[in-house]
Amino acid sequence: MNLVREAFLYQNRFNAQTIVFKIEYPVTEAAGFPYLMKDIGLLAKSGIRVVIVPGAAEYIDVVLANHKRSSAFVQGERRTVHDEIPYVEMAAFHAATRFITGLSAAHVDALIGNFVRARGRGVVNGIDMENTGSVDKIFTQALTRILDFGMVPILPCIGWSPTGKPYNVSSNEIAVAVSAALGAIKLVIVTAGGAFTANDFTAPDSVEYSEDGRILHLSPEEAALVLHMNEGGGGAPVATNQILISRKPPATIKERSLEALRLALEVSKAGVERVHIVNGWEEGVILSELFSNFGAGTMVYADEYEAIRGIRTSDIPDMLRLMEPLMQKGILRRRNAEDIQKKKDDFVVFVIDGTVHGCAALHRWGEGQAEIAALVAGPAYSERGIGRRLVRYLIEKAKRAAMRRVFVLTVSTQDWFETLGFSEAAVETLPDAKRKHYDYQRKSKIFALSLAPLRLD
Ligand SMILES: CC(C)(COP(=O)(O)OP(=O)(O)OC[C@H]1O[C@@H](n2cnc3c(N)ncnc32)[C@H](O)[C@@H]1OP(=O)(O)O)[C@@H](O)C(=O)NCCC(=O)NCCS
Repeated sequence: MNLVREAFLYQNRFNAQTIVFKIEYPVTEAAGFPYLMKDIGLLAKSGIRVVIVPGAAEYIDVVLANHKRSSAFVQGERRTVHDEIPYVEMAAFHAATRFITGLSAAHVDALIGNFVRARGRGVVNGIDMENTGSVDKIFTQALTRILDFGMVPILPCIGWSPTGKPYNVSSNEIAVAVSAALGAIKLVIVTAGGAFTANDFTAPDSVEYSEDGRILHLSPEEAALVLHMNEGGGGAPVATNQILISRKPPATIKERSLEALRLALEVSKAGVERVHIVNGWEEGVILSELFSNFGAGTMVYADEYEAIRGIRTSDIPDMLRLMEPLMQKGILRRRNAEDIQKKKDDFVVFVIDGTVHGCAALHRWGEGQAEIAALVAGPAYSERGIGRRLVRYLIEKAKRAAMRRVFVLTVSTQDWFETLGFSEAAVETLPDAKRKHYDYQRKSKIFALSLAPLRLD
């Protein structure tokens, strides 16, 4: 039931938004590829604007090898010479056609198109890169029109100059450019590499894992550290704005995952707030990643993913949804929307990825005392530090308001408050205004914490 609820919440948020998928070529050969396309088709049909950027590097190598050729790489970048561009085009369009086939089976209209204007890379390290290009411009208007029709545009790794000269452009670079140009809310990288698990990757201590040991999410700084810790290079970590996507197909599964992480960083620098890396060999991975709180992959987020903030009127229904079961059990005092609205400035919410998952209030009662009340950490994230962080936040707020003591009335969480430094206190210690309201039938216990005066230097 919770899963269904989560899915609805996310579905509402994604409706009419653009999500770009960069899908690596080996994934198109996986047995589960038709199911992956069905899932992407479902997203397109449900009103999400879907764009696909197929990777083709491995297939370009196959086609070239079939014609007894192979590419040279200059600084990690494929050099496509004049007489090889027809093979590269063939491979790029073949890779794109696989998506047309998959989406046809899902009854979704799709279109492979010339949405990228390219310019030649010119001469790199004294070597003429010939038909290797980079993105000059994304034809946003054309893409928007196609998306407005509910169709899925597919962008092969080819771009054309204004005079119609074809260039081989890295699909990673296209994924970055198209995500930024369309203001996508997400880029999903469907990688042929493995998941980011605690077993396979070292990560900084701040990183949070799922129960099965997968890294849940990374800030850009953490992502840069993961790259540094797993690439085997010594020295200082590379600044997030210096990481460049390499273009050569990675040799190992681990390298593939790191390559995806590098791409994720590049895209988050370009202003895309969420980049998800999912394992293309795992069935159902896209829907689980997008529509459940703990996902199925690893997310790199550019904006603030978790935050405690003051409440907005629109948060009140979500807060009441969290409080209701506890009010029914008598753990929390009953409050309605009006009660919360009246004391709006006292409340804060804990928001994860735009959804309210916790709340609490700090009510001032005079005599330098404030009460922590209505504290809830939602079941989806229970025992993950939300409760503790809300209490600490309110303690800081109380200190800033020059309070000398905070207290809480509780019937079931005395041990928990003790672990946060609170100790039991008598009813007589409550400020007068509060003591008048104390319910002697309910017999709540009082736990209090003395606050050291805040130094204002
Ligand atoms: C109490 C509550 C806010 C804790 O929030 P949370 O985010 O789940 O908890 P945290 O992650 O901050 O802390 C988890 C730790 O507290 C412990 N804990 C949780 N509830 C506890 C309780 N009722 N009594 C004692 N310990 C408790 C957990 O075992 C865990 O211990 P660990 O860190 O040693 O593993 C949450 O359980 C809740 O919403 N409870 C119902 C509402 C309520 O009682 N509010 C307080 C009245 S104002």
